[in-house]
Amino acid sequence: MTAKLIDGTAIAEQVRDDVAKDVSARIEKGLSRPGLATVLVGENPASQVYVRMKQKACEKAGIRSFGHVVPADISQADLEKLVAELNANPEVNGILVQLPLPKGLDEERVLSTISIEKDVDGFHPINIGRLAQKGRKPLFVPCTPDGVIYLLGQVGVELEGCNAVVLGRSNIVGMPVALLLVERNATVTICHSRTRDLADVCRSADVLVAAVGRPEMVRGDWVKPGAVVIDVGVNRVDDPSKEKGYKLVGDVAFDEVKEVASHLTPVPGGVGPMTIAMLLRNTVRAAQHADAKL
Ligand code: GUN
Repeated sequence: MTAKLIDGTAIAEQVRDDVAKDVSARIEKGLSRPGLATVLVGENPASQVYVRMKQKACEKAGIRSFGHVVPADISQADLEKLVAELNANPEVNGILVQLPLPKGLDEERVLSTISIEKDVDGFHPINIGRLAQKGRKPLFVPCTPDGVIYLLGQVGVELEGCNAVVLGRSNIVGMPVALLLVERNATVTICHSRTRDLADVCRSADVLVAAVGRPEMVRGDWVKPGAVVIDVGVNRVDDPSKEKGYKLVGDVAFDEVKEVASHLTPVPGGVGPMTIAMLLRNTVRAAQHADAKL
């Protein structure tokens, strides 16, 4: 079997077009232009790239972008003060504090300071807490996990009753994606570094989500024939044949798994583009939420 590739770039573009239309419709109705504030702490090169991409995507969709760059040695109090100012600014509908934060800053306290109504990343403990509880609805769902579920929806896979295996338990991807799958009535197994017989557990999956950050860890014989495989990993590996000296690979051994799975996301061009698309969608939702309060 050769898996169908799930084209995250094209699917994300469609979502971004829809967001741009929603923004135009708001402006035509005389409603405010949605705004996203990004907070970049320090000079982590990967974070700089991600934040720049988010800002550019905002511009393209007609969303205002307010970029804040602060030094890595900012005090906890000053960072929380900045977030509090953004909470109070009516032009800012969404607040994104890029993670990871430099050492010495308390991430949980910073994320708790963001107003839950502006928490477009869905990382505020109340939003995550609601996601983890039956019958409760978070105002926002974390963007990468939301993108994974969106892609599964596009494939048309029946999540109800399926065996879903999530490889990785990070706060940003693994844990929230597992919670979203439970909410859709999948039977979910979360695997991590202490899981026994990892390959066997993965082989039981109808839907396998790999989010461990280990290059090409999931091999062809870890996958049940016909399974849907979503690769969230983005890993740099040396490749002297490339101009940059490296290439990007996922957590899945692509060439092997594409012979076994029914559907597979490529890296790059799979889950990655969905994160930004979902962030833009959340920002417009935050603006709608603010309208409803006027
Ligand atoms: N770092 C890696 N992914 C994300 C994300 O989705 N949001 C934020 N704020 N930081 C991240």
